[in-house]
Amino acid sequence: MIDKKQLTSNIPKHVAIIMDGNGRWAKKKGFFRAVGHENGTKAVREVVEASAEIGVKFLTLYAFSTENWNRPKLEVDTLMKLLVTSLKKEIKTLQENNIKLNAIGNLQSLPEKARVELLEVIEKTKGNDRMTLTLALSYGSREELIKTIEEISIKVKNGVISPHLINETVINEHLYTKNLPDVDLLIRTSGEQRISNFLLWQIAYAELYFTEILWPDFKKGDLFEAIYNYQKRERRFGKTSEQLS
Ligand code: IPE
Ligand code: IPE
Ligand code: MG
Repeated sequence: MIDKKQLTSNIPKHVAIIMDGNGRWAKKKGFFRAVGHENGTKAVREVVEASAEIGVKFLTLYAFSTENWNRPKLEVDTLMKLLVTSLKKEIKTLQENNIKLNAIGNLQSLPEKARVELLEVIEKTKGNDRMTLTLALSYGSREELIKTIEEISIKVKNGVISPHLINETVINEHLYTKNLPDVDLLIRTSGEQRISNFLLWQIAYAELYFTEILWPDFKKGDLFEAIYNYQKRERRFGKTSEQLS
């Protein structure tokens, strides 16, 4: 097991996690899927605290995708209720650890109660500056890109932006993630090796890390393990090894 003392330098600035495997975790134990989601919130607390402890500045968690609306209504309702109770409960953890809450996604589509609670915690924690915790809620990367293209097109039509001045910066400024740097490390739990419509633009040069661990079982040590693995990699960004050394 990796200890956080082994991770002193080269901490990824932005870690993003696809928290997957709650349903399978519950099934294995003979519980309803909802129990898996409830236990998933404990893993959220683990990674939030662990990330802050080692100096990660941005942690982004995929909590609910645009595609997840297609799950049975009962499960969607459970997840939305769990969001409200977790926000009420965890605001204390956020304040104690000086963490700012942020959200990306189509927040308008969230139930009123969840949206109100979310915006309240965002407002209350806006002065915190140790780490930014971003929850991706009703988030889909393609939806985000469509929104971005629409907004930029309107500006072009109105003469605010000239088409040949559209560059990466302009696009970044129109994404939900406009205040976040590119992802350095993307983790997915549960053994699935896919992106599932998460941050397609923002992970262009992220290091990918897949683990078999089901999300509710993911502990601080597992995050440290992922970061230790990341630190052993050489990020070349198209250059040669010799150029880097
Ligand atoms: C991740 O766990 C949580 C959400 C997608 C909301 P799943 O619910 O996808 O769990 P599995 O993949 O069915 O095991
Ligand atoms: C991705 O997990 C979305 C979240 C973790 C919130 P899913 O379980 O929904 O992904 P797929 O459908 O298996 O790709
Ligand atoms: Mg899943």
